[in-house]
Amino acid sequence: QTPNAPVDSAGDAVLDGAFLRACRREPVPHTPVWFMRQAGRSLPEYRKVREGIRMLDSCMRPDLVAEITLQPVRRHGVDAAIYFSDIVVPLKAIGVDVDIKPGVGPVVEKPVRSRADLERLRTLEPEDVAYVTEAIGILTRELGGTPLIGFAGAPFTLASYLVEGGPSKNHERTKALMYGEPELWADLVDRLADITAGFLKVQIEAGASAVQLFDSWVGALAPEDYRRSVLPASKKVFEAVAPYGVPRIHFGVGTGELLPLMGEAGADVVGADWRVPVDEAARRVGPGKAIQGNLDPAVLFAPRETVEQHAERILRAAHGLEGHIFNLGHGVLPDTDPQALTDLVSYVHEHTS
Ligand code: CP3
Repeated sequence: QTPNAPVDSAGDAVLDGAFLRACRREPVPHTPVWFMRQAGRSLPEYRKVREGIRMLDSCMRPDLVAEITLQPVRRHGVDAAIYFSDIVVPLKAIGVDVDIKPGVGPVVEKPVRSRADLERLRTLEPEDVAYVTEAIGILTRELGGTPLIGFAGAPFTLASYLVEGGPSKNHERTKALMYGEPELWADLVDRLADITAGFLKVQIEAGASAVQLFDSWVGALAPEDYRRSVLPASKKVFEAVAPYGVPRIHFGVGTGELLPLMGEAGADVVGADWRVPVDEAARRVGPGKAIQGNLDPAVLFAPRETVEQHAERILRAAHGLEGHIFNLGHGVLPDTDPQALTDLVSYVHEHTS
């Protein structure tokens, strides 16, 4: 039995299901499906339990985290759960003055732009996120055979929030630091790599069966800049969790040109957004890695037949690939009709089994 293999509600090991098998490029009973940002967002039952509770406060309440993580599994029958949290949770846990403003995203009161600012980013200790261990304990009992995906923000994407002080379209301050003060930048992303790796280790040790590193905004970079300024830090994260043997997924938006390098950073599975067909993504990533993706989340606003045509196109492109995990090309959009997601899961399962 591999560490972190799923167990049923009685605690007995069950055969690895479609999701973990696809991550390892083994034959599957059907193409597994899950959705980035499936927890929260579009679900009325999510809005109900979150009422009056701030986003980051909800991430520190194990009972609530477990309930929100389970909601999309119950409703849609997805093949994996994703732990309910946010990429800025480990930063908050080490004392960064970050908050999540509804409809805006993470906002950092005192941005990190100097060597002195960098010193404020201390190491993450497991005790800083004891609520994560507790929530995953509840989840591994309640999920039965459904695997749990742990996640963290990648060094570049975290750095972009820390340096800009909030969401950014052009990442101008981040790039100014990256290009203008390469030593400070390298130290910043190296420190973030340690924090991120620490956060993923806590999740794996508590029972997560796979992890995803979100480098959502790294598509803003050219490949050579990625190779020099980002790849070493992301690689450090993947190497730090390699000994656990759980599948490691790597994803970013607009990363068509970066796919080979994102694979090189050490992932077992590379996510593609909707701009690159999955067979072409597999070609760019190279052999030995599974592909995750990649329905345009906006397509879910079209009629059901249209959604199915797009899903079919993806399944056709994935035919013959070793290891395909069906997902969206980015997260579920907040106004998505939850039924469209449920229908999509059924469609993919029925057409691949
Ligand atoms: O996937 C899941 O369902 C698990 C939960 C999850 C959240 N954030 C909860 C959340 C995950 C995986 C994330 C990751 C995350 N957070 C990323 C990477 C994924 C991606 O979409 O690219 C990024 C860039 C963030 C930063 C962040 N946090 C943004 C951009 C926002 C959205 C701001 C908004 O309101 O539109 C958040 C807030 C956030 N994170 C919410 C949720 C459920 C909404 C909070 C609220 O409504 O109060």
